[in-house]
Amino acid sequence: MNYKEIIKKLDINKLPKHIGVIMDGNGRWANKQGAIRLWGHKHGVESVRAIVEASVEVGIKYLTIYAFSTENWTRPEDEVKGLLKLILDSLIKEVDALNKQNIIVRFLGTDLGLSDEYKQKIEKECEKTYTNNGLNFNIAFNYGGRLELLEGIKTIAKQIQENKISLSDIDESIVSSVLYTSGMPDPDLIIRTSGEQRLSNFLIWQSAYAEFYFTDVLWPDFRKKDFVKAILEYQNRQRRYGGSK
Ligand code: FPP
Repeated sequence: MNYKEIIKKLDINKLPKHIGVIMDGNGRWANKQGAIRLWGHKHGVESVRAIVEASVEVGIKYLTIYAFSTENWTRPEDEVKGLLKLILDSLIKEVDALNKQNIIVRFLGTDLGLSDEYKQKIEKECEKTYTNNGLNFNIAFNYGGRLELLEGIKTIAKQIQENKISLSDIDESIVSSVLYTSGMPDPDLIIRTSGEQRLSNFLIWQSAYAEFYFTDVLWPDFRKKDFVKAILEYQNRQRRYGGSK
């Protein structure tokens, strides 16, 4: 089935509200062609464009992609520098097109390790989209799920210390409210490419009841058709949230 045929099969009343994507396999894709890893990341941007477009066309409200993890700093310096540059350059290049599609772009992650100049450049581009009200496109960048929780726990502790809340007030909604995804629905579907089957510190609190979809396709080869195929499979799953049928 092609993209349009799969879309026709989708039940628009059962769309996932939030999809998370772990874009994996850029390095292997590049290696297969005898190229450096950064070549794979560059081609990966095409796949990002494709799934953003598909999300708008299908009517997905939240899309979160895992672009750079707090663990990715341990990669060779050239690759890290190249990735940071690629992400900023792509944002600058794409922001007008994203605006035209009414998309809100947010970066989710920690400031740790980033220069003020870099952070300001990112914020300046994202700000241009904040009055839009279409797809919420989140870029998990300098993101780690454990660090996100750690920072959130400190925020809650501070609120207690300042007598703004008491210990008995702490519930799941308070924890959700101090995460980078505050106010957003939890992901219903997490897609991971390249055959690896793990979460790698991505949205660990938020994914508690997410459905997982794994595919062998390497990220730079992932296209709209692959994306809607994952949504179709999601719609055929039975979600029970710990209850019975
Ligand atoms: C994982 O593949 C991929 C990444 C760590 C980077 C993904 C980033 C992009 C595709 C750029 C995103 C662009 C924008 C605009 C946000 P890998 O390097 O781990 O591949 P491997 O497992 O084959 O080595």
